[in-house]
Amino acid sequence: MSNICVIGSCSMDLVVTSDKRPKAGETVLGTSFQTVPGGKGANQAVAASRLGARVTMVGKVGDDHYGKAIIDNLKANGVSTEYMEPVIHKDSGTAHIVLAEGDNSIVVVKGANDEITPEYAKQALEQIEKIDIVLIQQEIPELTVDEVCSYCRSHDIPIMLNPAPARPLKQETIDYASFLTPNEHEAAILFPGMTASEALTQYPAKLFITEGKQGVRYSDGSKERLIPSFPVEAVDTTGAGDTFNAAFAVALAEGKEIDDALRFANRAASISVCKFGAQGGMPAREEVEELLS
Ligand code: RIB
Repeated sequence: MSNICVIGSCSMDLVVTSDKRPKAGETVLGTSFQTVPGGKGANQAVAASRLGARVTMVGKVGDDHYGKAIIDNLKANGVSTEYMEPVIHKDSGTAHIVLAEGDNSIVVVKGANDEITPEYAKQALEQIEKIDIVLIQQEIPELTVDEVCSYCRSHDIPIMLNPAPARPLKQETIDYASFLTPNEHEAAILFPGMTASEALTQYPAKLFITEGKQGVRYSDGSKERLIPSFPVEAVDTTGAGDTFNAAFAVALAEGKEIDDALRFANRAASISVCKFGAQGGMPAREEVEELLS
């Protein structure tokens, strides 16, 4: 069993479905409203746990009913919340999601996720007994991402940085990360003035650019490879990237070769989009293995 530590956001997703996405200044009628657990960090933790990893979540919630529900949900999914304490003076993070016209739009209010300081994250890393890989994303303070990547490099702990939502990164942080998994839009912001192919060539077996329905592209050092995704009828793509990252990390931590790990991750992500909610469709290990075989 692999040991994964996720440092990242834990939020409540407030999801409205509508036939039409409103334009600026427009009001439209929606068809449903649901509140479901989300946040890129918590999503990745839940996905990795369902895929068979031992997972520790390092994150913060508010001292409110969303915070309690978020922690209960992590526990129910087998994720250790030993290092999570509610923040008293802040609300839990929320993501305000509109599902319309086959895609989502999201506004994130970080709330307590902004309290994930470098000190808190590093203290947790010092205490967690065995870590095969750390997973981190960008709904938490920039400084924490930078310092955790530096800490992991100096302590020889592999770290996968999922640079979402997009923002420019310091060169050292790019260098310290063991794996970077941007989508095409995020990659363009990380590597301005470079084509995707140039960036892939510069970071072989480290940079993995996800291209949605197309699959994921990387360079093996001599050529570019595209590992195709699995075609499915998507119901809700929210959390597909999180499932991909978690599954890729689990597979690498278990020692799978890169192409096999990417196929496993693509398969898991393709299953996750078949149900509503970021975590609603995240598969159990057996489902992924059965479909892969
Ligand atoms: O990656 C999907 C997640 O992004 C959603 O669950 C939402 O919380 C947003 O942060």
